Amino acid sequence: MQRIYFDHNSTTPVDAGVREKTSYWLDQWGNPSSVHQDARGAKNLLRESRQAVAELIGARPLEVVFTSGGTESNNLAIKGVFQKFRKGHMGEFRNHYFFSGIEHPSVRQTMEFLKQEGAYVEEIKVDRNGMVDLDVFAEQVREDTALVSVMFANNETGTVLPIKKMAKIAHKKGALFHTDAVQSLGKSLINVKDLDVDLASFSGHKFYALRGVGVLYSKQGTQIESLLHGGGQERYRRGGTENLLAIASLAEMAQQREEIPERIQKMEELRDSLENFVLENIEGVSVTGAGGKRVANTSNLLIDGIDGEVLLMKLDLRGISVSTGSACSSGSQEPSIALQKMGLTRKEAQASLRISLGWNTTQQEIDAFCAALPEVVSEIRALKEQSYLSTGLAAYY
Ligand SMILES: Cc1ncc(COP(=O)(O)O)c(C=O)c1O
Repeated sequence: MQRIYFDHNSTTPVDAGVREKTSYWLDQWGNPSSVHQDARGAKNLLRESRQAVAELIGARPLEVVFTSGGTESNNLAIKGVFQKFRKGHMGEFRNHYFFSGIEHPSVRQTMEFLKQEGAYVEEIKVDRNGMVDLDVFAEQVREDTALVSVMFANNETGTVLPIKKMAKIAHKKGALFHTDAVQSLGKSLINVKDLDVDLASFSGHKFYALRGVGVLYSKQGTQIESLLHGGGQERYRRGGTENLLAIASLAEMAQQREEIPERIQKMEELRDSLENFVLENIEGVSVTGAGGKRVANTSNLLIDGIDGEVLLMKLDLRGISVSTGSACSSGSQEPSIALQKMGLTRKEAQASLRISLGWNTTQQEIDAFCAALPEVVSEIRALKEQSYLSTGLAAYY
């Protein structure tokens, strides 16, 4: 059975071009920091990769810090700024940190850590579409706000936040602005200069590259303290010999940037056709975040009377991979915090299903999914009804 993979926000398959070139990159085994000739290939590969990735996101090569992934980039951005303020390297002391309610745990938990370290941390409220009220935000940013961290696109609903406007508001008060843009690459066009952010996080394995590489864009002049002390790699912003194989794979994906707009359009058409079918053919379904701007590939369905986990397992048995929340936090039974912050009840968050398409998703796969979903939903609803009737609980519902 050919499986259908609709969980690209969790991780993407490795691109065919990346697979092909892996053995060439492995031949560049030298340490890019060494000065002898055996290191020349590695050094060149690292330099070219940095250039390609910088072009992809609209940065300068020196503003690209290679990390191990999105989690590390988010940690480096937030703790890196916090440490610089704490050490008094940033002029006036600022100790207020602001993040949106729908951030990924790698931002949320890092902010929790800052709180324990004595920072004053606050959450920015979002509405049912995951949107921020800009007027309220403008009033809430303070004279002592050090950093605002708001994601470019939400991993669960695809909601795209007004980063450019928020960064402008934050800058007016002298605060730095970080965006977790891990869910942007390949799904939306992004340019850090146009957004005018100070820091932005990216991850290779969400963009068809190998796992183990991420990027922190750090605008020239932005001060961040390294989390990893040791070598002076990445201009003292991230110690440790670079993961060149994974870095080169990310650069390979960056070379495909001309083709991305067309792939985005294709995913959007497929996603919209899937949503239209579901809304027309299954009762009691709504699309969370559909009232706002979303990235092209993501659909978060709220299906009345369904437990998302049960639905996920039943679809899995039929050869379809989907998700119920952030894959990074799956395994825990707690329904998605981000969905609850968007105003969904616990029960609604539990009834949510995340479908995230990829560049290789086909119309045939969408059709197969659309054939399976109504059947599975009816099965679950019928089972639930039966169990209410047999336990005598029906009267209460
Ligand atoms: C929005 C967002 N930020 C950060 C991360 C973490 O990225 P990584 O898995 O590369 O550490 C994820 C992963 O799901 C994510 O969706």
